Amino acid sequence: MRLSRKLVLASVAVTPWILVAAFGQDGVGILRLPSNPYHYADADQHYPPYFTSPNVPGSVALADNTPADNRITNDGATLGRVLFYDRRLSRNYTMYCGECHKQSHGFSDPDRFSHGLYGGLTTRHAMGITNSRYYQNGRFFWDERAPSLEDQVLQPIQNTVEMDMTLPEVVTRLQATTFYPKLFKSAFGTPDITADRISKALAQFVRSMVSYRSKFDSAFDSNGLAHFQQTLTAQEFLGLRLFQPVPGFPNISRGCAACHTATSQIGTHAQNNGLDLNTPDGGRFKTPSLRNIATRAPYMHDGRFATLMDVVNFYDHGVQNNPFLDPLLRDPNTGLPRRLNMTQQEKDALVAFLNTLTDPTFLTDVRFSDPFVFPVRTKPHP
Ligand code: HEC
Ligand code: HEC
Repeated sequence: MRLSRKLVLASVAVTPWILVAAFGQDGVGILRLPSNPYHYADADQHYPPYFTSPNVPGSVALADNTPADNRITNDGATLGRVLFYDRRLSRNYTMYCGECHKQSHGFSDPDRFSHGLYGGLTTRHAMGITNSRYYQNGRFFWDERAPSLEDQVLQPIQNTVEMDMTLPEVVTRLQATTFYPKLFKSAFGTPDITADRISKALAQFVRSMVSYRSKFDSAFDSNGLAHFQQTLTAQEFLGLRLFQPVPGFPNISRGCAACHTATSQIGTHAQNNGLDLNTPDGGRFKTPSLRNIATRAPYMHDGRFATLMDVVNFYDHGVQNNPFLDPLLRDPNTGLPRRLNMTQQEKDALVAFLNTLTDPTFLTDVRFSDPFVFPVRTKPHP
C-alpha cells in the first residue's frame, strides 16, 4: 500500500492526469482519467462526409440505432469506458468487458471461445463490437436475441459463465467507491447509481466505437468521391472489385457487398450464409461490420475459420445447400449454392482488400483504451 501511494504521487507529479484512487479491493487497479473528458459526443461531426452523409450511396447515416433517450455525451461515454474495463462487474474481480473484447483485436477475442470468470467457455466467438451503432435493426448478439444495445450490455454482467453478478450487487459495489457517484453525477445529473444508468453509459461507450480511418476510407475525398485506384495497390483494387461493383469498371463483383453493405461493410439483418448443411433453427446470424476484420480472427459465430483465406475459400466453393440459405448466395439459374471459381490470384486480392479495412488509429485510440492502471504489486488478470 505504501509503495502504491508513492507511485500514485509520482505519476501525479509527472502527468496531467487526475488520479482517482481505488485502493482496497486487490486487483481492480487505479482509475486514471483525463481532467477534461475525451470527445465522444460530437465525434460524428469529425467523420468524413462520405461516411455519414445521407447523400452518399452506402453511407451509414440512415442506419444509426441510437435511441432518442440515450444520445452519446462525453461524460456518459467516459463512464461507459470505466465500466467496460472495471473488474468490479464480475463476482471474483477478474473479468471485465475488455477482457473478451480486446481493442487491439478489433474488440474481439483471439480465442475461438472466450474464457469466463471461472475458466468456463462461451458458446460463441466474442464479437468485434465496432460500428455497432450502425447495425440498422438495432438488435444484438450473433442471433440478434437482444432487442437493443441497452438491453444487450447488461447481459454479460449477469451471465454465469462470463461475469456472474446480479445488477443490485453491481450497484452496491459501485456505490462503495469514491469515484463512481461523481462519474454518474457528471453523466446523468445526480450521483444515483442504477442498472438503467449502467446500461445507458455502457451503450454510449460501445456506440462511440466507430471506425472510419482505414486505408479504404482514405480513398474518399472531402466531397465524398472515392479515388480507389489512386489509393489502393493494384492487388487491393482488384480485391475491391471482387468485393463490390466499382462504377466505371467492368463488373467482376462476387457479391460480398450485397450483404456486407454500406461504407462500414455492415449488414442490416441476420442471414444464413451457408456455413452448415443442417440448420434446424434457420442458422441465421448477424452480418458483422468487416472493419478491422484482419485483426479479428478466428471468424464466424463459432470461430470456425482461422484465417481470412479460409473464409474466402469457404465463399468460393464451400457454401452449403441448406433450405434457409440466403438467395444472394444461390446461383440464380440452378438454384444451387454459388461457386465463385476464383483463381488463387483473385483470392489473394480479396484478402488484400479485406486488409485495407484495418484502422490502426481506431485500434490504438486512447478514448477506447483501459483507464485502469496497475502500478502496484497487484497483477492484471493474465
Ligand atoms: C467472457 C467473455 C465476454 C465478456 C466478459 C463480455 N463479452 Fe460481450 N460478447 C462475448 C461473446 C462470446 C459474444 C457473442 C455472444 C452470442 O452472440 O451469443 C458477445 C457479444 C457482445 C455484443 C454484441 C455485439 C453485436 O454486434 O451484436 C456486445 C455489444 C458486447 N458483447 C458487449 C459487451 C459488454 C458491454 C461487456 C461487459 C459488460 C461484455 N460484452 C462482456 C463475450 C464476452
Ligand atoms: C448472403 C449474405 C452474405 C454474403 C453475400 C457474404 N456474406 Fe460474409 N457473412 C455473412 C454472415 C451472415 C456472416 C456471419 C455468419 C456466421 O457467423 O454465422 C458473415 C461473415 C463473414 C466474415 C466473418 C466475420 C466475423 O466477424 O467473423 C467475413 C470475413 C465475411 N463474411 C466476408 C465475406 C466476403 C469476402 C464475401 C464475398 C465473397 C461475403 N462475406 C459474402 C453474410 C454474407
